[in-house]
Amino acid sequence: MTKRILLLLLLMLAVVAQAQPLGSIPYKSFYPGNLWFDTDGNIINAHGGGVMCHDGRYYWYGEHKGEHSNSALVGVTCYSSTDLMNWHNEGIALSVSDDPQSPITRGCILERPKVIRCASTGKFVMYFHLELKGRGYAAANVGIAVADSPTGPFTFVSNGRVNAGIWPLNMTEEQQTSTENLKGLESWSKEWVRVIADGYYNRRDHNDGQMARDMTLYVDDDGRAYHIFASEENMTIQIAELSDDCLGYTGRYVRVDAAGQNEAPAIFKKDGTYYMITSGCTGWAPNAARLLTASSIFGPWTRHDNPCRGKGADLTFQSQSTYILPVGDGFIFMADRWNPDNPIDGRYMWLPIEWEDGLPVLRMTKRWNLENK
Ligand code: DGJ
Repeated sequence: MTKRILLLLLLMLAVVAQAQPLGSIPYKSFYPGNLWFDTDGNIINAHGGGVMCHDGRYYWYGEHKGEHSNSALVGVTCYSSTDLMNWHNEGIALSVSDDPQSPITRGCILERPKVIRCASTGKFVMYFHLELKGRGYAAANVGIAVADSPTGPFTFVSNGRVNAGIWPLNMTEEQQTSTENLKGLESWSKEWVRVIADGYYNRRDHNDGQMARDMTLYVDDDGRAYHIFASEENMTIQIAELSDDCLGYTGRYVRVDAAGQNEAPAIFKKDGTYYMITSGCTGWAPNAARLLTASSIFGPWTRHDNPCRGKGADLTFQSQSTYILPVGDGFIFMADRWNPDNPIDGRYMWLPIEWEDGLPVLRMTKRWNLENK
């Protein structure tokens, strides 16, 4: 009997040791997909986010979400941490505006904020996907904000379409001058895909600027920064070089995986190769991730198979990429498990990037530590 009780106690202890700490108890591991509490014991509210490291501290920026709506009612949140597991709430880095005339007025759609430190100005620059209030996802604008401190407050600078009047570096003269259009073509027919791959939407938006939806920022080893975004009706990714002050564009940009319909781009570089993980395009519902590689940021980019492995791989373990963070020699894949019926309850899926046959792979794990990777 005593032996049995002892065994039971040991079993309970083992379960507790594996379980995620609640409230403000410090975390010693990552628990992908579980509730994640900040150091005050509140659930972290930073969706579609990215992480920047500055002066030995990590800053996590994300969309503040409420219970009933995906619209931006508060703004972009910021949390900070030294160990990536225990996050201190730094408050609202960029607030939505009370001015109904402001492009970031309360009730707009403000998604996937990312922050970098601009090498030439030393300022902190935030880019995000902005949809103007009451216009659904039609505006497809980029929003830009700037701050002197990583925690903000960020000041809204501008918004709009991207690279108006400029052709991509990898669009031929024939493609630029083509008059082909989609009239009479069945969606997803071979011909429809070809006309889009040949730049139909890029030409359509040439004068007013390219659409910019799901996005990330990337700073290369030389300090040059890039905005990487779903463009051309979400059919083609674009990579656009930022100007020295990081508040605009140089006009140098490329189309990537034309007509490949990628969303949620996240990028990293290892040993001279650029790796981009994206998703397909199914709204808030998960789909299979994709992998692209290139030896230059401006391509050519090669598409590979789904990098996810094991159970749930075909739906990216019910999540969608948002950012890839270099840590030491490794990389953390950050993704969102969206919950459109209760957006605040969207979960964070942070997984270690592993390698198989020279390519990055992702495996679902319930708990992991940086030391084991
Ligand atoms: C998928 C995108 O990745 C999200 O950021 C969001 O824009 C949803 N679509 C909206 O349906």
